[in-house]
Amino acid sequence: MSIAEAYDITEPRTPLVPPTPPRAPDDMTALGRLAALRTNAIATWGARAYQDDLVKGRFFNHASYILNTPEAIRHVLVDNYENYTRTVTGIRVLRPILGQGLLLAEGRAWKHQRRTLAPAFTPRAVGTLVPHMISATEEAVAELQAGAGAPVDLREAMQRLALEIAGRTMFSFEMGTHGKALRDFVIEYGTTLASPRFLDLLLPLGWPSPRDISRAFFRKRWTRFVGELIAARRAAGKSDSAPPRDLFELMLAARDPETGEAFSDDQLGDQVATMILAGHETTATALFWALYLLALDPRTQDDVAGEVRGAGGGDTPAIERLPFTRAVLDETLRLYPPAFLIAREAAGPDSVAGQSIRRQDVILIAPWLLHRHEKLWDNPSAFMPARFMPGAPPPDRFAYLPFGVGPRICIGAHFALVEATLALARIVGAFRIELIDRDPVLPIGIVTTQPERSPMFRLTRR
Ligand code: HEM
Repeated sequence: MSIAEAYDITEPRTPLVPPTPPRAPDDMTALGRLAALRTNAIATWGARAYQDDLVKGRFFNHASYILNTPEAIRHVLVDNYENYTRTVTGIRVLRPILGQGLLLAEGRAWKHQRRTLAPAFTPRAVGTLVPHMISATEEAVAELQAGAGAPVDLREAMQRLALEIAGRTMFSFEMGTHGKALRDFVIEYGTTLASPRFLDLLLPLGWPSPRDISRAFFRKRWTRFVGELIAARRAAGKSDSAPPRDLFELMLAARDPETGEAFSDDQLGDQVATMILAGHETTATALFWALYLLALDPRTQDDVAGEVRGAGGGDTPAIERLPFTRAVLDETLRLYPPAFLIAREAAGPDSVAGQSIRRQDVILIAPWLLHRHEKLWDNPSAFMPARFMPGAPPPDRFAYLPFGVGPRICIGAHFALVEATLALARIVGAFRIELIDRDPVLPIGIVTTQPERSPMFRLTRR
């Protein structure tokens, strides 16, 4: 059956082209670019970055390269990945909140952590966490139902939902008591300490910048709070049931397959922080943009609702029965990849895309650019979920990177896709979603691809 038949798409539609920030002039000065980088990295890219295979620049006294070809990306993220580490700025900005957890670990420490954690994120293990995802989504839907008809801030609602799911899948407890404190920490960090200042970009890691001092104070309070969450979870006791009932139990039981080592308490704290933070803001952002696109494109929204009805109606349907909902999500992750930039620093010399790379040169792979690149996509700015339906020609493996690729690919990719597909289906199945505020909502890239403001929506029951 064709997509048109399956979803009763009888007339050709003009696809939606959602609004984007104006492209920067290609001759923007290095200083202008640096200033814009702190507030919106997406606005620093000019038209050529969406057309060329390679964009050369400078980052202080090092060369920087934006790679836009599958071969070059494959070289950096897969074939020679060990030569490319996290950047000094990335470490400086994220270390206080993620510590030595998986996202920032390198070398042997990373290998040990990755293979220890891998069993907790297999499709089978994620399957055991689905009841937590469903219970949190049901409560969010009930809350939206209670306020149906009144203006609602869906960005805030999606952040609360994703945080609730992160908390329940991690600890099995509701985030009622801890959720607000956790959100306050995330907001405090995101709005003040996460955006790099000039000296953060300039100074080597061993030299603290003025912001690093505030970040160190933040880290003290933050690790104490994560310690309290872990203590509360330990107090709730271990379940005798198999399989383990949450990610915490999965991580407690995790052993390095080669050495048999478990995580120490400090390591466990950093992994908990990493999983909650790497997982919830990204997924909330994806859900927000999906709902925004569907509000701008009511026919596609109705197609999603139709699929949900056909797949089981009110209750959360099985994910296998939601290919179109999943395609909407895949297309949302193409147009608004929450991780808009994957940055690496060269640990040693190399040759990439015909360029001689020197130690400390910066390599940028930008899903934002890649996903809208004129050579890689047909009608790149248009919202066309059908590109991701089963049977459609798949995109090049290195042209579509919402979760990265290679050994450091997102460990939570399957988790996030299950969570977001189920939540999107449940919400769109329950409500017709309209934007009250029709002014364009532009994305800004700071840590994730966030909306510049939170527009108000109106939900009515279907
Ligand atoms: C839509 C949601 C998500 C998106 C778009 C996303 C995106 C990404 C990307 C692009 C990377 C690779 C970064 C790189 O190569 O430098 C990454 C890594 C990572 N993600 Fe996600 N992620 C999402 C959800 C999650 C969830 C739910 C979790 C955990 C529960 C998670 C945990 C991690 C961790 C720990 C890493 C580091 C992996 C490593 O370095 O070995 N993410 N994510």
